[in-house]
Amino acid sequence: MAEVSRGLASAPTRRTGVEPQVLAARLSALFASSDYRPPVLPSVAMELVSIARQPDVPIPTVVKLLKNEQMLTARLLTLSQSALHGRSYGPTLTLGQVILRLGLKRVADIFVQASMEVRMFRARGFEQPMNRLRRHSAATAEMARIVCQRLSLDDDHAFLCGLLHDVGLAAAIIAISEGASGEAIDFGHAWPAIFDVHEAAGRRLAEIWKLPTELGMVIGSHHGSRPFPSDTAAAVALADLLVSEQGAGMESECDPAALSAAATRLHLGADSLTQLRQDAARVAATLT
Ligand SMILES: [Fe+2]
Ligand SMILES: [Fe+2]
Repeated sequence: MAEVSRGLASAPTRRTGVEPQVLAARLSALFASSDYRPPVLPSVAMELVSIARQPDVPIPTVVKLLKNEQMLTARLLTLSQSALHGRSYGPTLTLGQVILRLGLKRVADIFVQASMEVRMFRARGFEQPMNRLRRHSAATAEMARIVCQRLSLDDDHAFLCGLLHDVGLAAAIIAISEGASGEAIDFGHAWPAIFDVHEAAGRRLAEIWKLPTELGMVIGSHHGSRPFPSDTAAAVALADLLVSEQGAGMESECDPAALSAAATRLHLGADSLTQLRQDAARVAATLT
């Protein structure tokens, strides 16, 4: 029953020709339902994020915590040594060495990235859009971190906000995939509905996963249709736009007009924007 309630299995939406507004209404109803069961992030992921923000956490404590998630830890080691995170060659490092090199906060962020890859960015029949979403989310995460760093915004959660900003897109694609029993639903046709519901769906996931409040706020308002609730929200919106300009976007997600709203909120001058565009090009070039 729980599996059924995650998708649209009982709704008559399995036709390729379903109208986008009808599909959007059905997805909204699904996400609002108390029966909705989204994919689960491993509890270790958010536990790690939480302890990584405490002072003086001994490395063996972290290694012990990650012992129970060996597959994700293996992916963490691969990701942490990728070009996106500053290293593209050299000998494989142990978990302890990676923590020493990158710091525990960054390792925790990359562990959530590994968890998202395994648990969220997968949906049968939608492999290509999910792969684009995986790359877009990784690029936005790294770019959000760089924007906050360049503007001296003190935000521990910038990377995670970027990584999770479009989690509602993933949830909508998964729901459609799970409801499509044998008959293909064209992604392009479903896209307007997926886009329509994704901010609200992301807010719902943030609630269900009990993410820190500021993450939920950023996820739920990253397109700037309402005033940005924080500088971090504007930084994530800007990161989203800048990586999209560099070819790491998700369909027609970003309205270039939103760039000025984010830039105004962050008091960005032309020189800073030029610098950030160069950063975005570098980030996009390191994606795998
Ligand atoms: Fe989005
Ligand atoms: Fe996005």
